[in-house]
Parts: sequence; C-alpha cells; structure tokens
Amino acid sequence: MGKIRWGILGCGKIAAKFAEDLKLVDGAELSAVASRNGENARKFAKSHGAVHALDNYLDLAQHSDVDVIYIASPHSHHHEHTLLCLNQGKAVLCEKAFAINGHQAREMVDTAIAKNCFLMEAFWTKFLPHYQLVMAKIHKGELGEIKSLFVNFGFRPTEPLADRIFNPELGGGSMLDIGIYNVFLALSVLGKPDGIEATMTPAHTGIDEQCAVTFTYQNGAIAQLFSSFSSNLSTEADISGTSGRIRLGTRFYEPATTIEFYPGHIGTRQIIPHDREAGWGYQYQIRHVQDCLEKGLIESPVMSHADSLQLMDTLDAIRKKAGIHYRVDDY
Ligand SMILES: NC(=O)c1ccc[n+]([C@@H]2O[C@H](COP(=O)([O-])OP(=O)(O)OC[C@H]3O[C@@H](n4cnc5c(N)ncnc54)[C@H](OP(=O)(O)O)[C@@H]3O)[C@@H](O)[C@H]2O)c1
Repeated sequence: MGKIRWGILGCGKIAAKFAEDLKLVDGAELSAVASRNGENARKFAKSHGAVHALDNYLDLAQHSDVDVIYIASPHSHHHEHTLLCLNQGKAVLCEKAFAINGHQAREMVDTAIAKNCFLMEAFWTKFLPHYQLVMAKIHKGELGEIKSLFVNFGFRPTEPLADRIFNPELGGGSMLDIGIYNVFLALSVLGKPDGIEATMTPAHTGIDEQCAVTFTYQNGAIAQLFSSFSSNLSTEADISGTSGRIRLGTRFYEPATTIEFYPGHIGTRQIIPHDREAGWGYQYQIRHVQDCLEKGLIESPVMSHADSLQLMDTLDAIRKKAGIHYRVDDY
C-alpha cells in the first residue's frame, strides 16, 4: 500500500499537535485540511505542509485524495462530522469524547458498519507505552487484586478562555474534556462499575466546573475520580491492589508521566522506565490506525467500538447522577 492520505477536519489546537506528530509516522501524508474559514485552512495547511486547504468540511469528506479523516471539532459536533465523513466512504479517527451521549455513539458505530468504513475514537492514552506497561503489570497480577483507584485531573483554564470549555452547546465542562481520562482509567483497571455516584459544582453556564465520581464494585473495590476546571490539581493516578501499588505521576495520561511501583505490602519505591519517543505522543495511535487500514479492518482491536460505547454509556450514567446537561434530551 502507498502512503496513507490523511485529512484533518477542524483547524484548532489539537489538530495542530496531531499534524506535527503525523510527520513522525512512516507512510503518512497530510493531504488535506478543512476549516469553516478558508483563510484559517490555508494558514494551517502552510504551517503543517498539507497539500489541499479547504473552506468547508463536505469538500474534505468528498475529497478523492483523502483516505482517512481525523475529526478535531468540539464534542458536540463529533457525531455530525463523523457521519458526514463515513457517509462519503471515508475512514474516521474521531477525537474524544467520541460523542455527546451513547445514542449518538451507537449511530456512529452502526453507520461505520453499514458503510464498511473504519471508525475509531482517538483515545491516544491507550496506545502509549507507559499505559501498556502498567496494564501488563496489572494483568500479570503484580499488584494482586485491585482494590482502589484514586485519580484526579484538573487545571484552571487561562484567559482567553476557549469557547468550548464552559459552553454546554459545545459539550463543555470538565467531564467530557478531562474527567473522561479518569473514567477511561477506571474502566481499564477495574472494568464496568456495579454502582456509580457523582456530584458536580456548576460553572456559570450550568455545566460541570468540577465533578466527583465514585465507582463501586462487587468485590469491594472503589474508584474515586475527580475532575476540575477550578484549580490546578496534581493530575496523578494511584492504583492499589492486595499486593502492590502503582502511582502514575503528573499528567498520568501523557507519555511524560512517571511510573512508581511499590511491590508487596509496604513496598520500596521502584521507578519503572518506559519508552518515550520525541513528539506529543499522538504518533502511536496514528500508526495503529494505519496498520488497521492496511489490514482492511473497520474496527480497531485495541480501541474497539465496544470500548467507546462502554465509555460513553458510563459518562451518560455519571452525568445523570450529577445532573450535567448539554441539551434537554441528552441521555
Ligand atoms: N487527545 C488530546 O490530547 C486532546 C487534547 C485537547 C483536546 N482534545 C479534543 O479535541 C477536540 C477539539 O479540541 P481543541 O482543544 O482542539 O478545540 P479548539 O481549539 O476549539 O478546536 C476545535 C475546532 O473545531 C472546529 N469547529 C467546528 N465546529 C465548531 C463550532 N461550532 N464551534 C467551535 N469550533 C468548531 C473549529 O475549526 P475550524 O474553525 O477550523 O473549522 C475549531 O478550531 C475536543 O474533542 C477535545 O476534547 C483532545
């Protein structure tokens, strides 16, 4: 197979980082970028070396020089933009959160299957070496039975505030933006919770400025998850089992985090080294998508459709408990 020709839909902040990491991937080419504003698309294409700059998203979805489209729009628009691309026969890598709710996510998956097109949520952490190393240790039983997870993700957004941060119309609030990483880690380590409790403090727009979530499990395990746009938190994760503990340092979801391992009951700290390439870390998921496309898959075996649906359904359950609404008929 020749180069895989990527398109980027929405020329915002994450799109720029993704475009930088695309250059680190063999066999990847940034063919086209699309913005609602042609001037923005042209500037972005020039900065990142895209061949085509388009002033609307439909032209990208229909472009004959594009194999796969990375969707980098706000949460509220992932459903619409994913369907736009799938319906034109394009493979899609869609940013997290996959959608606003489980109904939307199911329609996206059903459309991918009906159109026989690849679709994956861009949950980049799942492809990072440190995450895979930690999950391997857990699966090997090095921590014993996992009994507790404490994870927090918080920062105080700086001015000028991006519109999507507190805008309910754009799926703003802490949960879909950053709390999702906490939920993802809990699902990875402990699986589907048997009980969910959640409470939030509203921002001036009504959606969650902070959210505290507790997952309970029949084996007695508890996960406590906290997300905040009110203050800068440590953004760390602590995973404890009956025979060991792992602490992931600041920005537990990024490749630059540290892994501290405390084996046994008291446990002397060991720093576990892990691979880290140059770049932001998005290249790992990009390589995986290319691998899936080369194999003719329509679903990733790593971040499957079921994984995205479970994550979305869990976020819906949290929002129901905490009273977080983006629109009247949210969930
Ligand atoms: N994986 C990660 O590490 C990571 C990090 C940050 C964000 N994200 C995710 O990436 C997505 C985008 O975040 P971002 O920080 O890049 O946001 P952003 O800077 O606001 O960019 C979003 C882009 O979406 C496009 N867009 C389409 N419809 C829009 C609308 N109605 N209102 C506003 N923008 C609209 C705009 O591009 P045009 O004007 O060019 O059309 C805009 O620049 C979110 O889902 C977020 O959760 C992921």
